[in-house]
Amino acid sequence: MAAPACSALRGEGTTLIQFLSKQTRLASDDKVKKAIGQRADRYFGEPLVFAMTKNYLQVAVEIAQEAGKILIEELSRPLDIAYKGDEVDLVTQADKRSERLIVERLTKYFPDHAIAAEEGTGHESASASEFRWHVDPLDGTTNFAHRYPCFCVSIALAQRDTLLAAVVFNPFYNELFTAARGEGATFNGKKIHVSKVATLSTSLLCTGFPVRNRKASPNLQYYGDFTQRSHGVRRDGSAALDLAAVAAGRFDGFWEFGLQKWDTAAGVLLVEEAGGKVSDFAGNPYQLGGPVILATNGLIHEEMRAMALEISLRALPAPAHSAANP
Ligand code: IPD
Ligand code: CA
Ligand code: CA
Repeated sequence: MAAPACSALRGEGTTLIQFLSKQTRLASDDKVKKAIGQRADRYFGEPLVFAMTKNYLQVAVEIAQEAGKILIEELSRPLDIAYKGDEVDLVTQADKRSERLIVERLTKYFPDHAIAAEEGTGHESASASEFRWHVDPLDGTTNFAHRYPCFCVSIALAQRDTLLAAVVFNPFYNELFTAARGEGATFNGKKIHVSKVATLSTSLLCTGFPVRNRKASPNLQYYGDFTQRSHGVRRDGSAALDLAAVAAGRFDGFWEFGLQKWDTAAGVLLVEEAGGKVSDFAGNPYQLGGPVILATNGLIHEEMRAMALEISLRALPAPAHSAANP
């Protein structure tokens, strides 16, 4: 027998968020947790962990879409731009309003979960919960501030070090990317896969540059070399959308130095669930907040890694003896 729709499970007049909120609160009691598990297994026809992850994802989607409305509203207002440092790290009223909404909603529905949000209004978990939301309320602030419509809301949920659910939403183009661990990735409801481009020389790549300590970034060297060895390198200005584009097969590879956890958390799960590969330049698994990320369709991963190694060796300062004896 087909499983009833989620709305039927939660009953008329109850929003998904209210339903989940109640379940999550109840779930701190072991007996009730077991009962929910049996119910969820029965209704969804799959283990509880998948059912709950799907529910977390649906909540994250609802919240991201609500935050997206705020971004669109703010886009048509006179912009209120401030600088977070003495370089080009911008923040707008839109970043703040979007984050306020997301943190408020997540806190209300998952009071035990920790929230790491870029503008600093998140919080540690009230209990010893192992769940953490990574929130970028507006990824692509510089684009937004110039009304270049490449920006998004990025929300991901991790259980300890394992990413469970991810949403990247560009409200301008109404492009919604989602992923749930073990369940694949989607674009506007349809399953997506990374590209099949098998060589670096025929690939389209993407990267980004930091908004702080710009002079210390080694990336111009990598940008130049990868440009010469591929069909081209784009610089779109939103790491979360760049990763989503790798997941959707629009780009074949992406790398960037110095990204924060909220920039990459959702995008990493999207790429992995779409069949791609994510690591650092040494080939070790990428850790959120690590110094460099390499995300590809898997097929060009080793070629990109080898090339990155070559560039890094060339970029090293010349040994003293060769400088003295050119
Ligand atoms: C930035 C974007 C950009 C990347 C920067 C990030 P923000 O995030 O993701 O693509 O190159 O390093 O800081 O500030 O727009 O949220
Ligand atoms: Ca960001
Ligand atoms: Ca941001």
